[in-house]
Amino acid sequence: MPFSDYKTALVTGASSGIGAAVVERLCKEGLQVHALARSAGKLAELAARTGCIPHAIDVSDLEGVTRLAQEIPFDVLVNNAGVDRPGSILKADAEGIDLLVDVNLRAVLHLCRLVVPGMAARDRGHVINISSIAGAYNFGGNSTYHATKAAVSMLSRQLRIDVFGKRVRVTEICPGRVATDIFAHVHGNPEEMHKRFIEGFELPRAEDIADAIAFAIAAPVAVNVGHMEITPTLQVPGGLSTARPEAPQA
Ligand SMILES: NC(=O)c1ccc[n+]([C@@H]2O[C@H](COP(=O)([O-])OP(=O)(O)OC[C@H]3O[C@@H](n4cnc5c(N)ncnc54)[C@H](OP(=O)(O)O)[C@@H]3O)[C@@H](O)[C@H]2O)c1
Repeated sequence: MPFSDYKTALVTGASSGIGAAVVERLCKEGLQVHALARSAGKLAELAARTGCIPHAIDVSDLEGVTRLAQEIPFDVLVNNAGVDRPGSILKADAEGIDLLVDVNLRAVLHLCRLVVPGMAARDRGHVINISSIAGAYNFGGNSTYHATKAAVSMLSRQLRIDVFGKRVRVTEICPGRVATDIFAHVHGNPEEMHKRFIEGFELPRAEDIADAIAFAIAAPVAVNVGHMEITPTLQVPGGLSTARPEAPQA
């Protein structure tokens, strides 16, 4: 089973939600897991619980991630760190656009650039990119987030071409709503966000996404699980709206 072929993993956005669950799962599978996020305290707790190696680094700190990628030959790379800001492009501000591009896309591209050539040279590796149904479907939300996640989705397919002929696997995990604190991190007001997005819904948990990732890694090395869309059973993405034009102003 490929878990035994792999020794090291890097998980970004490891201090909460999906990232923390993936760290926990990969540690249980016997990998040496490097957990990256900004919150040093949360990472220290995770390290005490799971045995992972914490790195309190901003994923958009190019010098920091370059040093880390040069120090350790990662067999598994989980690009999970992600942020969102509410509002369509009509309400977007410059800072929000730059932040989302930096964290959701630029950091993913740089980490792939830094880590994947080593995987190709060793003929061994697995890249897991966490996109979103926002990258595949249109619905009300943040257009910048949709755009960055669509780019991550296309990058995941393109990576397969880049490593053609090598035993380097690429899996895009495309979640719908998952019961994490992302909504509080986006909108603030944790209690209200919990009521609005989590309470009373039947949702996948972060551990369910970690299980899906473990399934893709544990598949025989001849098997590449390229794309997994994981939504709540009671959530359907997509839709079609048609509006009549407003009556001309008198
Ligand atoms: N939950 C959902 O419904 C859902 C749906 C679709 C896709 N996703 C995607 O799944 C991924 C994980 O989200 P989640 O639900 O687990 O959300 P979360 O609980 O808010 O976790 C986000 C993680 O990203 C880290 N992060 C944010 N900015 C960072 C930066 N500049 N440098 C390093 N780490 C940073 C955060 O840690 P620090 O703040 O400590 O840095 C945190 O660990 C994201 O890519 C998200 O877009 C989530």
